[in-house]
Amino acid sequence: MSQLSKEITLELVRVTEAAALMASKYLGRGDKEMVDKLASDAMRGMLDYIDMQGVVIIGEGEKDKAPMLYIGEQVGNWEPNTPELDIAVDPIDGTRLVAYGLPNAISVIAATDRGAIEYLPTFYSYKLAVGPELAGKLDINASIRENLRVAAAILNIDISELTVVILNRDRHREIIEEVRKVGARIKLISDGDIAAAIATALPESYVDIYIGIGGSPEATLAAAALKSLGGEIQIKLWPIDEKERNDLIEKGYDLEKVYKTDDLIKSDNVIFAATGVTDGDLLRGVKYSKNIAITESLVMRSKTKTLRKIISHHNLKYKTIPLKSEGEVRFINGKKGND
Ligand code: FBP
Repeated sequence: MSQLSKEITLELVRVTEAAALMASKYLGRGDKEMVDKLASDAMRGMLDYIDMQGVVIIGEGEKDKAPMLYIGEQVGNWEPNTPELDIAVDPIDGTRLVAYGLPNAISVIAATDRGAIEYLPTFYSYKLAVGPELAGKLDINASIRENLRVAAAILNIDISELTVVILNRDRHREIIEEVRKVGARIKLISDGDIAAAIATALPESYVDIYIGIGGSPEATLAAAALKSLGGEIQIKLWPIDEKERNDLIEKGYDLEKVYKTDDLIKSDNVIFAATGVTDGDLLRGVKYSKNIAITESLVMRSKTKTLRKIISHHNLKYKTIPLKSEGEVRFINGKKGND
């Protein structure tokens, strides 16, 4: 029986709101590390207010490499009889975007049942994500040409009307050339492929397919959202070099294995929340206006498939955020506050 109850939904939004608010203070200052540090610190502090026995399964890295939100870290208040949950976070997907004031950065969290999040051993995965109409219809092993042909036929549109989102990286040169040859539209993004994968499942985003190599944790977080939206993500592990490839094979990993949405999140009960940091296809970024900060968040629960957009007005004279590293709450402007 799932221990994840709907009561936690708003709590998770408060977590991503806090991370987005803190990160947004460093918009355009060119300091990627500070953006990530503040967002993680706020996210970590907020998590401790939640009645749960949470364990970070996807976070900021291994214990010795990340000061907080490391894999295996306990989050929540760990009161007796509170739900035992697994947590996946990306305090900021698109730290560079925030550091340079560019669109599409979001703060993300997902919570699900203990043991439901698949461990992926590689930093990168090759991904294919689509919305509900194309879910189950494309094949990550098929050629780009074939997938685009099938997608256009199912959507009943000309291939020239299909929009494919791809991270703008040298490693994608062949994919980009192939999509161009076939004649589909391409939206190149500089970062932030969780939002890109989710956007395929939201009609108002007007993108059909996300394809390419990006972070493995980002694939799992996208899967958490796509479970509510009825979309699909397929991935394959993508070792960066021969050494990693050989290590994986030695450890018994099958590099041809295709992980689908339900392999990445193995429970039917997952809650996903995201808050926009900068304006994007998915969400509007944090806005400031005369002592008010406005955030826009998306939260969904796969069990009921409810999707909520939440617009919050935070009064900066009163709003405090707990920073885990300092063990105290602070006003967003940096002054010390009371809980
Ligand atoms: P960060 O915010 O953690 O830097 O991730 C941004 C991102 O663009 C992800 O959305 C994407 O999955 C990954 O980086 C791609 O990695 P790389 O920048 O190494 O190509």
